[in-house]
Amino acid sequence: MSNNILEIKNLSKIYSVKKKWGQSNFFYAVQDLNLAMGKGSCLGLVGESGCGKSTVARMMVGLLAPSKGEVFIDDELVFSASLPSKKAYPEKIQMVFQDPFSSLNPRICIGRSIAEPLLLSDKSLSRKHIKEKAISALVEVGLEPSHYTRFPHEFSGGQRQRVALARALITRPQIVVCDEPVSALDASVQAQALNLMRDIQKKLGISYVFISHDLHVVAYMSDEIAIMYCGQIVEKASKEIIFSKPAHPYTKALMDAAPSLNQHHREFVSLQGEPPSPFNPPKGCPFHPRCPYVQKRCMEEIPQEKEIEQGHTLVCHFPLLK
Ligand SMILES: Nc1ncnc2c1ncn2[C@@H]1O[C@H](COP(=O)(O)OP(=O)(O)OP(=O)(O)O)[C@@H](O)[C@H]1O
Ligand code: SF4
Ligand SMILES: [Mg+2]
Repeated sequence: MSNNILEIKNLSKIYSVKKKWGQSNFFYAVQDLNLAMGKGSCLGLVGESGCGKSTVARMMVGLLAPSKGEVFIDDELVFSASLPSKKAYPEKIQMVFQDPFSSLNPRICIGRSIAEPLLLSDKSLSRKHIKEKAISALVEVGLEPSHYTRFPHEFSGGQRQRVALARALITRPQIVVCDEPVSALDASVQAQALNLMRDIQKKLGISYVFISHDLHVVAYMSDEIAIMYCGQIVEKASKEIIFSKPAHPYTKALMDAAPSLNQHHREFVSLQGEPPSPFNPPKGCPFHPRCPYVQKRCMEEIPQEKEIEQGHTLVCHFPLLK
């Protein structure tokens, strides 16, 4: 038995995009990704748009089949390229999306939407029991029992995100994967939502995978942070290490580009250049065309993951060591 609630091994996703004349182009959205998360903790996943964060998230919860590799929850293999596909394990892992409106059926009342994962995970439950559970899930996220019969359009953005959280929690999963859960909310509502998520984590002892563009949000929520670039994890360490002594040039660039705490810009504004086309990745280190520390070796040899201190891994030939 390990202390990890989640382990991902060599996970890859190949997408195909149709070209003219019926031909297809293939590319790796996620490539040989390894990741582990301790029980009861929050792992932040950070990286520029298009680096593959949502693709990993969707493979973790079984919404997307991996092209290669495996996902283990509590040491049990749940998803892999070779396992017969099982749609979901709502009692183990659930997901909260950026836009709760698109994940809630506008014609179904909130209470029934919240109850849906429970119905899928245990078909023997009585209707009365399911309704009671849905009501207590509503209350758990700070909503009212009377909201049960209302419809999604009757709620504000912040309330809808609470509904999405209630829906994720109703099956009492061990892990909730949150993909940009507060990005669409105003700053004041964001803070309330994050506090609620932290309180719930403390109360239930669940683990979060928390994806966000906003480093301040990730810093607030996470114990550990994994930095993703071009479908791979390039650095992973505790939040303290990532913020105080990033060793990968990409992580450092993200930190340098992050606005100060009292501003509310989201993007990594000062990072130079664009990520490479996934159809034509550069030879050697994928970050080399943008890296201020690039050397000849970086252009020829793909760096392998190494652990430079306990719990601090990175993929770079020339780590920045303080
Ligand atoms: N169904 C699909 N078919 C083909 N390509 C896809 C598909 N879904 C995503 N992609 C591509 O895969 C890459 C990774 O996408 P993904 O949505 O995982 O990125 P992301 O890191 O979540 O980005 P963002 O921060 O913008 O949400 C992108 O190049 C994207 O355009
Ligand atoms: S391997 Fe080289 S190019 Fe890649 S991040 Fe490290 S120093 Fe930069
Ligand atoms: Mg995404």
